[in-house]
Amino acid sequence: MKMIIFGATGKTGRELVLQGLEQGHEITAFVRNPDKLNMEHPLLHIVQGDVTSYDEVNAALAAKHYDAVFSALGAKSPFQRDLRLVEAVRHITHAAAAQQAGKIVHISFIGTRKDAGKLGLLYRWITPLLMRNLLADHRDKEQIISSGAANWVLVQPPLLTNGERTGSYYYETTIRQLPSSKLKLSRANLAEFMLKLAQQSEQDRKAVMVSE
Ligand SMILES: NC(=O)c1ccc[n+]([C@@H]2O[C@H](COP(=O)([O-])OP(=O)(O)OC[C@H]3O[C@@H](n4cnc5c(N)ncnc54)[C@H](OP(=O)(O)O)[C@@H]3O)[C@@H](O)[C@H]2O)c1
Repeated sequence: MKMIIFGATGKTGRELVLQGLEQGHEITAFVRNPDKLNMEHPLLHIVQGDVTSYDEVNAALAAKHYDAVFSALGAKSPFQRDLRLVEAVRHITHAAAAQQAGKIVHISFIGTRKDAGKLGLLYRWITPLLMRNLLADHRDKEQIISSGAANWVLVQPPLLTNGERTGSYYYETTIRQLPSSKLKLSRANLAEFMLKLAQQSEQDRKAVMVSE
């Protein structure tokens, strides 16, 4: 498959690049700073660009017919809004539709869900209060992608860790109660799951929670 990754220099983005290459996919990494990616591979193409420019995002998507578009950008602070990244997601969504890309696979956050309160106090009271700006950004991005013309899947993990890839995780489109010890996921497992979602259609046009 041909895949493009926005946020490829991030912790999850890098996992997507590595695992995508390992699986034999042709990967384009759209980055603002190629030195930070510091990777070479025959199947890896690095495009330097600015996600806040629609023309640059659209040009990258127009260069090939991509089967999957990974959206793995992330704000620096969980306490402040970063409207540049909301705008970036809008550009990715519109350009993916304009260029008839296969599917957007976007990382969101489990806390955005209406039924997140079932997960306990952390998601019922604390996250909505302390992380209201992050939640607002994530909800806006979900709304933009899910109302766009390109096919999509929203991936909603809880706390991300730098733990190893085990291939063992639980995913569902509705939340059931989980012990708090299970409310985390390694970025390596998240990337593995996202690559699976890119290659299967069962969860298309759905928001899927995923956790250990
Ligand atoms: N941390 C958690 O526990 C957690 C839980 C659930 C969901 N999430 C979500 O998961 C996603 C991925 O998280 P992560 O920890 O893998 O992300 P990360 O390591 O912080 O990476 C963020 C990526 O976004 C890029 N980026 C940020 N601002 C940018 C800008 N203005 N212009 C261009 N690129 C920009 C960064 O580029 P540079 O490398 O150039 O800076 C980097 O590639 C995020 O959306 C996050 O909200 C996180």
